[in-house]
Amino acid sequence: MNGKVIVTGGTGYIGSHTAVELITAGFEVVIIDNLYNSDISVLDGIRSITGVTPKFYDYDLCDSQKLEEVFGAEGKVDAIIHFAAYKAVGESVRKPLEYYRNNLTSLMNLLEAMERHNTTALVFSSSCTVYGQPDTLPVTESSPVKDAASPYGYTKQAGEVIIRDTMASRPGQKAISLRYFNPIGAHPTAFIGELPRGVPENLVPYITQTAIGLREELKVFGTDYDTPDGSCIRDYLHVVDLAKAHVVALKRLLGGENKANYEVFNLGMGKGVSVLEAIAAFGKATGVRLNYSVTGRRAGDIEKIWADPSLANRELGWKAGISIEEAMETAWRWENKLKNKKS
Ligand code: WQD
Repeated sequence: MNGKVIVTGGTGYIGSHTAVELITAGFEVVIIDNLYNSDISVLDGIRSITGVTPKFYDYDLCDSQKLEEVFGAEGKVDAIIHFAAYKAVGESVRKPLEYYRNNLTSLMNLLEAMERHNTTALVFSSSCTVYGQPDTLPVTESSPVKDAASPYGYTKQAGEVIIRDTMASRPGQKAISLRYFNPIGAHPTAFIGELPRGVPENLVPYITQTAIGLREELKVFGTDYDTPDGSCIRDYLHVVDLAKAHVVALKRLLGGENKANYEVFNLGMGKGVSVLEAIAAFGKATGVRLNYSVTGRRAGDIEKIWADPSLANRELGWKAGISIEEAMETAWRWENKLKNKKS
């Protein structure tokens, strides 16, 4: 056993894939999730892959009493990986205070609990959204953090600052913020994957739901951008690659290999892929023809962004290697599995 890790948001999309990788790497995983945007059945998926059902607390991190209960019951906790947060960009524009209250209160409660219970390591789920529309590409960790496009984005920027300042005041503690680019795909076993509630906002679940007949057609939000084919460019990486980065980040902190007590890493493939190229990759990977049409731009969309992941490659010894075709294929396998479950 490598140690005990609390994974907040561990029944969510990235959290569940990370729980699997942590268990596989020999960690004891304790999940806290209020199931606001995830399903308890994810625990069965984790067990099917790993043979282990992680300990689970259906608690809201905004309730610091509940957090005390978890630490009281669990004893020594070596580290926390903090995923739990609201994450819908559009919704955050409509409900900014809910986003600020939920995402920041939960983080501050966790940081306070870490100090009380002498948990020394934290990995934080951050986002490339902190860069806004960068002036130069690819973006490195020292690219300027610009105005975020949404309250959601500001909660990630503020979250990073809160952690940085807290770590600066606590010599015995350390944290890493991981800035994800666009995670896609599902576990190759199709036991876990992305479970969007209602109409998906993100591209890949919208593609797979359209291909399976749940949605009529995919709308491509704009082909009049200043990009080679006119559609927006992102850096899509497979969720299992992303999950593995959390394990190496955690080992870096627990093994004392960190170079500062607060570090930041970009996690991406380092390759820009347009929306039209992503659609083509889906067709190539699955042989399924996708019904799509071009519509107007989506408010708040960034034209193009992709990562320079060389710091993570070098310092974490981590590299995203799963191709976009494989990612599309696993997303499609998962969509089919969901359909079979329902019927
Ligand atoms: C990708 C591209 C759309 C849907 C996401 C998260 C954000 C942040 C980064 C975590 C864009 C286009 C999409 C559709 C389309 N992650 N698209 N038709 O906007 O990069 O942001 O990743 O912090 O929170 O939301 O990802 O998957 O929504 O869009 O044409 O129906 O696909 O315009 O260019 P995005 P996305």
